[in-house]
Amino acid sequence: MAGSSTPSSLMVASLFAATLLLSFHPSNAQLTADFYSTTCPSVSSIVQTVIQEALQSDPRITASLLRLHFHDCFVDGCDGSLLLDNSPSIKSEKDAAPNFKSARGFDVVDQIKAAIESACPGTVSCADILALAAQASVYLSGGPYWTVLLGRRDSLTANQAGANTSIPSPFDSYNNLVSKFSAVGLDITDLVTLSGAHTFGRAQCKSFSPRLYNFTANGGPDPTISPWYLTTLRKLCPQNGDSSVLADLDPTTPNLFDNHYYSNLQRNGGLLQSDQELYSTASAATISIVNSFNFDQSAFFKSFARSIVNMGNISPLTGSNGEIRCNCRKVNWS
Ligand code: HEM
Repeated sequence: MAGSSTPSSLMVASLFAATLLLSFHPSNAQLTADFYSTTCPSVSSIVQTVIQEALQSDPRITASLLRLHFHDCFVDGCDGSLLLDNSPSIKSEKDAAPNFKSARGFDVVDQIKAAIESACPGTVSCADILALAAQASVYLSGGPYWTVLLGRRDSLTANQAGANTSIPSPFDSYNNLVSKFSAVGLDITDLVTLSGAHTFGRAQCKSFSPRLYNFTANGGPDPTISPWYLTTLRKLCPQNGDSSVLADLDPTTPNLFDNHYYSNLQRNGGLLQSDQELYSTASAATISIVNSFNFDQSAFFKSFARSIVNMGNISPLTGSNGEIRCNCRKVNWS
């Protein structure tokens, strides 16, 4: 009869609605804070201990580990794909342009994995190790604390071509940065917030030297670099010099996680073109966000905790998808 519905058609309709809801929130529902609470309760403290030890000889390691989580998540989701080495069946993401001779910290990830495997064999994924290492790294550097959501599984493949196209370039325009973030479900608040990670760590001359020479049509430098900073950077990175020389991303407090990144942008002292664009692109919606994070570090910290959880939720493998790798560098059956 028209207008009436049987119990079974109601059930089908509500199942359909539930499926639709789930498909709009495919990821966050599946990760949980207590995923390893019975199977590997010490996982967070193991991660923190190994990083603290590594920090003794490498003050940059926390920055490098945070970046690995970002480069993992932007390529087919947070699935540990970045960690796979080349093999007959794998074209490693480590050889993609944004990572080659740039991404670092893989040996420390191996040490974390080894320590976790001896405490809880076959339990914790490499993708979750990157998420936990990012959190411990920020916290150990003076930044915010957040609860890491866990339960990701590891990919069986890598996507080198995807790494070349999905990870933002330091030479991307403002619009390209916004669209690469939006392609993984992140908005401009996430973009400005997560770029605040450039409050610590280093970049090589090759990542910013095009800004220093012959940048404009008449041969001048990028006009959005202040004169004092230009002089410093030209000394560090002379034309035809060693392009792997390192500069601090935040010259004021190079190893601390704080909000100085945003005051640097306000005085035309962003190191990468992609940094300065967030503040110097005419009437960009990101300018007021930069101002607010400069004004209030705790607003930045709160936002960072939110945005990095958003990033960590990008398309994880869960349930029976993927695997728990025994060695982060290879798939189990290889
Ligand atoms: C918005 C787009 C982004 C671009 C274009 C970008 C680009 C870069 C580049 C070119 C470097 C220096 C690499 C080198 O010279 O070897 C770098 C370093 C770094 N990036 Fe980003 N990045 C972006 C966003 C992010 C995000 C979202 C995070 C983390 C949440 C992040 C964390 C870092 C860290 C911590 C370093 C220093 C790493 C180290 O010292 O080993 N970046 N980034």
